[in-house]
Amino acid sequence: MARCTRGAPAQIDSVRRSRAEVASGTSELRFAASAVRRLPLRVAWFTLRARRRARRAGDAFSLSSALRPQKLAELLAVAAQRRTVVELGTGTGWTTIALALADPARTVVSYDPVARGRAAYLALVAPSVRARISFVTAPAEDGPGDVLGVELLFIDSSHEREPTLAQVAVWRPALAPGALVVFDDYGHPDYPGVAQAVDALGATGAVCASMFLWRPT
Ligand SMILES: C[S@@+](CC[C@H](N)C(=O)[O-])C[C@H]1O[C@@H](n2cnc3c(N)ncnc32)[C@H](O)[C@@H]1O
Repeated sequence: MARCTRGAPAQIDSVRRSRAEVASGTSELRFAASAVRRLPLRVAWFTLRARRRARRAGDAFSLSSALRPQKLAELLAVAAQRRTVVELGTGTGWTTIALALADPARTVVSYDPVARGRAAYLALVAPSVRARISFVTAPAEDGPGDVLGVELLFIDSSHEREPTLAQVAVWRPALAPGALVVFDDYGHPDYPGVAQAVDALGATGAVCASMFLWRPT
């Protein structure tokens, strides 16, 4: 079973921060230091530029919804060697782009029924990275279509029990042997549906930076 790379226990990191904190210069410095310390250099560089762009554009959604460096670092660590990646819940694509940046042999397909502004962030990375990313404007419950052999399924979508269970049901047949399913915001008090879905699945796994890591058999 996958482990938390730093062996951390279940932990709610501060993914969704208050707008006041986002705006504070001190927290920006802390964020930058954390990104540089924890993330692969090219991912840290993208994250910092994306964040600066979001602040200038008043893109509060990205600033509050994208993964913080600690969690992103853990996700990238468990994603290592997994080349066919699907994300359910794209948002503005920061994690999609980070996953593609972290491994030049990786393809990432990301699903979201809402096509939020991603162009400005995609423009921050090279065409060779963009070429390995596909965005699908559809609810994840629509299923994989012709996507097969998924080695990592990252679920960061509705955060509700029933849609999450429906997504697992339709995506499970598309998983490669040994695939890892990662549920974001496991145990987060604002998103009880994630833990409820994990419980309903009877899934056993590791909890890392408030993500539940499950390797279905
Ligand atoms: C927290 S944001 C995703 C953030 C993104 N994964 C990142 O790290 O930058 C959650 C996203 O899930 C999307 N969403 C909600 N219900 C969904 C569903 N049924 N299928 C796919 N995406 C969904 C929302 O539109 C929203 O963009």
